[in-house]
Amino acid sequence: MKYINKKFTIEKVSIESIAKKYGTPSYCYSLKKLRENINNFKQSFKSISPLICFAIKSNTNLKLIKEIKKFGLGADVVSMGELMIAIKAGINPKKIVFSGVGKTLEEIKYAIKKNILLINAESESEIKQIEKIAKLKKKKVQIGIRLNPNTDARTLSQISTGKKENKFGVNGKTFIQLVNYCKKSNYIELKCLSVHIGSQILNHKPYEKMLKAVNQILNKADHKFEFIDLGGGMGIQYNNNNEKLNYSKYNLAITKFLKNHKTKIIFEPGRSIIGSTGILISKVVYIKKNVGKNFIILDAAMNDLMRPALYGAKHTILPSLWSRKFSKKTYEFVGPICESTDKFLTLKKFQELSEKELVVICDVGAYGISLSSNYNVRPKPIELLIDGSKIKVIKKRQKYEEII
Ligand code: LLP
Repeated sequence: MKYINKKFTIEKVSIESIAKKYGTPSYCYSLKKLRENINNFKQSFKSISPLICFAIKSNTNLKLIKEIKKFGLGADVVSMGELMIAIKAGINPKKIVFSGVGKTLEEIKYAIKKNILLINAESESEIKQIEKIAKLKKKKVQIGIRLNPNTDARTLSQISTGKKENKFGVNGKTFIQLVNYCKKSNYIELKCLSVHIGSQILNHKPYEKMLKAVNQILNKADHKFEFIDLGGGMGIQYNNNNEKLNYSKYNLAITKFLKNHKTKIIFEPGRSIIGSTGILISKVVYIKKNVGKNFIILDAAMNDLMRPALYGAKHTILPSLWSRKFSKKTYEFVGPICESTDKFLTLKKFQELSEKELVVICDVGAYGISLSSNYNVRPKPIELLIDGSKIKVIKKRQKYEEII
């Protein structure tokens, strides 16, 4: 994604031509970037040859998941719907892991029926529920137990999952008790220890701490785990932040860990695979001056991209046409929704904009469309996949009839 002849271009297609043909707001993904991200991820952990299970929650577009599947990735799912999408995309159930604290009876039954690789259980009650169904079906079900390692991921508190006050996983003591319980069960096969300490992690140190906690528990557990599922969480660079996750240091920590434990590593990355592949094209509807600020009112809103309103996340915004005429005004990019949190970014320096111009909101491939809603009865945007100069509609724009 770059400016060619001053026009913002995704692969070989200009934003202007996309907006002209498909309207706005529109999500666009670059296939080339997706390939690049997957290859980079694989390369970073080549020496430990992990099973990479794409976290479906980060992007639930069936066509994109089909592309991801072509690279041999599995899936991490957290609901029956996500499991259905993963299977529909052709992902081998033996490469699917099911996470989440509240799997219902129906969801567990479905996962067992589909013979997925692992149900990563998060409580004693859930393990008993799985056991009950397995007994009825006369099956031995492969599970993991999620450990809460009480590790601070040093990320936003809203997306931290590995501290003792978080609802996720079980503490060390309970973990050992549950291991002993599973060992006696005829219907449960305990194959995995899973952890996931949070999302958008930019420093390898929390991962090192997490591995230390896992190492300690394994030394106490007296059980041979075939898999250690380290979750996802690898952060990306939003809005020109300079911090960057050092993959080689993380890989090194895992390599050291594996010297003491002969096991297969599973990862569940979402954002690091899909985040930087996507942009949201939006049109300036109105420009409105208020005291000390100029509001750029876009046709995209918090229902299309929830991250800024929900987490105060900052996504870079760029003009579709590059000019060097910078304005000294403060611009606040907002959506049309009747909520003060419906704003994307406030900038002190941006080029002069006019009504009807296009802008691009960057790095929205992860938790963009998957967190979108129909709030204010707004139809969800179209989704397009760009491959060189080809544009494929991978999800149609919602019609009012579908939501009214
Ligand atoms: N595995 C588990 C068990 C998870 O809960 C998550 C994310 C992942 C894997 C994938 O994490 P990733 O590699 O994408 O960081 N909506 C928030 C992010 C929530 C993440 C929830 N769990 C956001 O927009 O930043």
